[in-house]
Amino acid sequence: MALSKRITTLTGGGSDGWDLFLKARRMIAEGTPVTELTIGEHDIRTASPILQAMHKSAMGGHTGYAMVPGTDTLRDLVAKRTQDRTGVPTTRDNVLITPGGQSALFAAHAAACDPGDTALYIDPYYATYPGTIRGVSAIPRSIATRAEDAFQPRASDIEAAAKGAASLLINSPNNPTGTVYNHATLSGIADVCQRHDMWLISDEVYDSQVWEGEHLSPRALPGMVDRTLVVGSMSKSHAMTGSRCGWLIGPSEAISNLITFATHTTYGVPGFVQDASVFALSQGDSFEVEIGAPFQRRRAIAQDVLEQQNTVGLIPAQGAMYLMLDIRATGMTGDAFADALLEREHIAVMPGESFGSSAAGHLRVAMTIEDSAFKSALETLCAFARTCAASAT
Ligand SMILES: Cc1ncc(COP(=O)(O)O)c(C=O)c1O
Repeated sequence: MALSKRITTLTGGGSDGWDLFLKARRMIAEGTPVTELTIGEHDIRTASPILQAMHKSAMGGHTGYAMVPGTDTLRDLVAKRTQDRTGVPTTRDNVLITPGGQSALFAAHAAACDPGDTALYIDPYYATYPGTIRGVSAIPRSIATRAEDAFQPRASDIEAAAKGAASLLINSPNNPTGTVYNHATLSGIADVCQRHDMWLISDEVYDSQVWEGEHLSPRALPGMVDRTLVVGSMSKSHAMTGSRCGWLIGPSEAISNLITFATHTTYGVPGFVQDASVFALSQGDSFEVEIGAPFQRRRAIAQDVLEQQNTVGLIPAQGAMYLMLDIRATGMTGDAFADALLEREHIAVMPGESFGSSAAGHLRVAMTIEDSAFKSALETLCAFARTCAASAT
């Protein structure tokens, strides 16, 4: 039987860029010890008290269908967290609870785009973005950024692509670059969105992991509250990746329609997961700071290691759990370097090319292993880069 084009062309026909990750997994399965710095998964598990809250809720009977928009308590808490952090008045009517940020990304594009509409996104990008856009039968169009701008998008580049587009997807703090968009960048983006009557979809799943500068939500900028859909998640801020609990924040009319969409797609998020999320959010900001602390510490370790040499460059790494390393001095592509590093040194990092052409000649390193192993892996990576650069000259 023929399958729909929507399903069979989701990855755009090519590889989805995860070849290196799969190769590392194969090597590990065959018994080769590999230092794994590929995916954005904390090296801690979900905290026991959160799991206890989940267990208590399930044992207490919260195992039936939950309210599709989310429980009132969780929607209220997410609204309060958003209002406290951004100053924008937000109530439960502005909040839809979703099965993770990924589902919120899909719902946001379903709300913003009709089939055949152009949906813009910034390159380098989180790996699922183009497929998510194709999943709602919209047409993904990327906007390149530059390493010399530390991957801050330029409003003029967005302007050049904006004519007729239905939406623009941005992500700050950014995966894979670690860039935190500054006020000038976000103001420029807001201006283009208003002039071209575009939706702005703002992926803020790393909002509690900022190491330099501050997190600004573009929903708080003048004129943006009615055209911005904000994606959030418990995954990164509370180390709850497997619980699949996230949210979408937007104008109440959009959320009301998206509740109908959720009724026909996900039918909500398990009640015991929502109760665990209520418990987790009730621990306050200090809990989120604690979850992010290892990444902040490892970023400082990386800065020390990289300062000792001049072959590998470090993009400022202002937020999130990743480093973007510039290995262009080796003369190799990110793909070739990452493959050789895995073969020779058994260290797995993601080639920048997996995240779009703007990150070619770069590597994304997830800061997700214990400090001393992380330091030693970076030292090995830098020494390997030096050897590659020397043999290239
Ligand atoms: C930028 C970005 N957005 C969204 C997600 C999706 O997260 P989740 O679906 O676990 O909430 C991720 C996960 O890595 C991400 O890096």
